[in-house]
Amino acid sequence: MNIQENISLKEYNTFGIDVNAKRFVSITSVYQLQQLIKEEKDIFLISGGSNMLLTKDIETLVVHINFKGISIDQQNHNDVYITVNAGENWHEFVLWCVSLNYGGLENLSLIPGNVGTCPIQNIGAYGVEVKDTITKVEAIEIKTGKLVSFSAEECQFGYRNSIFKNKAKGKYILTSVSFKLTKNNHKLNTSYGAIESELSSKGITNPTIKDISDAVIAIRQSKLPDPKEIGNSGSFFKNPVISKEHFEKLQSDFSNIPSYVISDTEIKVPAGWLIEQSGFKGKRFGNYGVHEKQALVLVNYGDASGKEIYELAQKIQHTIKDTFDINLEIEVNIIQ
Ligand code: EPU
Repeated sequence: MNIQENISLKEYNTFGIDVNAKRFVSITSVYQLQQLIKEEKDIFLISGGSNMLLTKDIETLVVHINFKGISIDQQNHNDVYITVNAGENWHEFVLWCVSLNYGGLENLSLIPGNVGTCPIQNIGAYGVEVKDTITKVEAIEIKTGKLVSFSAEECQFGYRNSIFKNKAKGKYILTSVSFKLTKNNHKLNTSYGAIESELSSKGITNPTIKDISDAVIAIRQSKLPDPKEIGNSGSFFKNPVISKEHFEKLQSDFSNIPSYVISDTEIKVPAGWLIEQSGFKGKRFGNYGVHEKQALVLVNYGDASGKEIYELAQKIQHTIKDTFDINLEIEVNIIQ
């Protein structure tokens, strides 16, 4: 194991925040990790770095999860069961599935990050959540070094949520994720408006898995900044859920407020719309700001600090509270 000293984490987080890791190690096997945590109890994990905002240098050992490998566990005429090691890049894995015509993940194309972190926030886009295909998550329990397994049910998935953000937070290191995908009779999900219009603009009426993946890639590229060009962490906030009563009150002031019905009593409102209404969309403050095409995304144009971006997020939260009486919850992990 090669523990390096004073390494910049700029390349290891999609926000491109330049903080220093006092000590840094890249780990390529579960065994190596088990050995390491016997000696080092206080560690800071980094995987794809796509859902974090670093606001300070990291004094504890930074452990970069870098286990690779994809294996097919079993398959039959209709389904394939696949296990993927945590350090595989998410989008490359999705493209691999698409190329083999394995269905289920095509709507989740082009999401930044690694496979090992996809269950933590139950990544979701265009009508699909990763929980729909996950069968099992394996992890090392930090306290004991033992490899343990969570069934999909045990993961307690919710909207951008799982047990790994709650009861199990900080207790496990996810090492692999297993999926059940379709080989035939794919359950295509094209109901999301933007997918429908992208497909129809190309004259596609009977889409394949690849058509959907291509459509999602085109939509994302038109709306969301590429972290390789402009640092960002995708949606910075969650879409808030409010009471029906509260929604109806807002509707009388803002008749065009978009909404999704969650239950008889609850309504989800897009945070991007709330932020746009508050005048933040496309606003630039020096080296950071709010993305011009999607107000949910905060961006680092250059050498912004995590603290500056966090302060902007708090300013947005206060404005949304004052204008709409809504608490906007931050989706990205703030490291402070
Ligand atoms: N909207 C605005 N202004 C904006 C952005 C959005 O008015 O600047 C309005 C749109 O007009 C639309 C509504 O908000 O009526 C929804 O917008 P969109 O379809 O772009 O989706 P979203 O709710 O903003 C969510 C996810 C995205 C995911 C898309 C597509 C969350 C927090 N975000 O965004 O996820 O790609 O749906 O399914 O749920 C991510 O998590 O990093 C992410 C990008």
